[in-house]
Amino acid sequence: MNTNRLSSAMQDALIKQMTKEGHASQIFLSYGCWADVKGYGGIANFLYRHSQEERNHMIKFMRYILDRGGEARVEAIPAPPENPQNLTDCFNKVFQHEVDNTTSIYALVDLSFQEKDWATWNFMQWFVKEQIEEEKLALELIDKLKIAGGDRASDESLFSLDKALEAAPDDVPLPETATAENPS
Ligand code: FEO
Repeated sequence: MNTNRLSSAMQDALIKQMTKEGHASQIFLSYGCWADVKGYGGIANFLYRHSQEERNHMIKFMRYILDRGGEARVEAIPAPPENPQNLTDCFNKVFQHEVDNTTSIYALVDLSFQEKDWATWNFMQWFVKEQIEEEKLALELIDKLKIAGGDRASDESLFSLDKALEAAPDDVPLPETATAENPS
């Protein structure tokens, strides 16, 4: 009796995404080390925390595959790309990684829709929502650096940015929680 509730194509796609989340975790860990070496301890801390979040995403895919009677294969994770050139490059790359990940998440939603696999479709909605948060978080990094002066930021403003990111929350509010009294 076949107890695997995932199609073979769906299982493969979920495993691919599991690996992609693991890859994102390694990338942010690597960028965190880069920031640490440059003396930006707060930014490094932010990136380390984000790396852990990506690892959690990987585990969510693993758990879902197993819960559906599938086989969660742990595959090789590619090496992280080269270090960023500077902080602007680093934050732009973090944003681009999130946008690329959103594209992969949407492809999984699309496949679940095509297969009428409503359990997977439902599971994927958590990630659709999560990507809104993740992209917003990355956009805020870019904005904060721009306000600090971008590539020409003074040491003082970079010091403040570094401190702010060390204390920055890992979650940002979703637009549906906004009200007229509290629109931000
Ligand atoms: Fe797992 Fe940053 O998305």
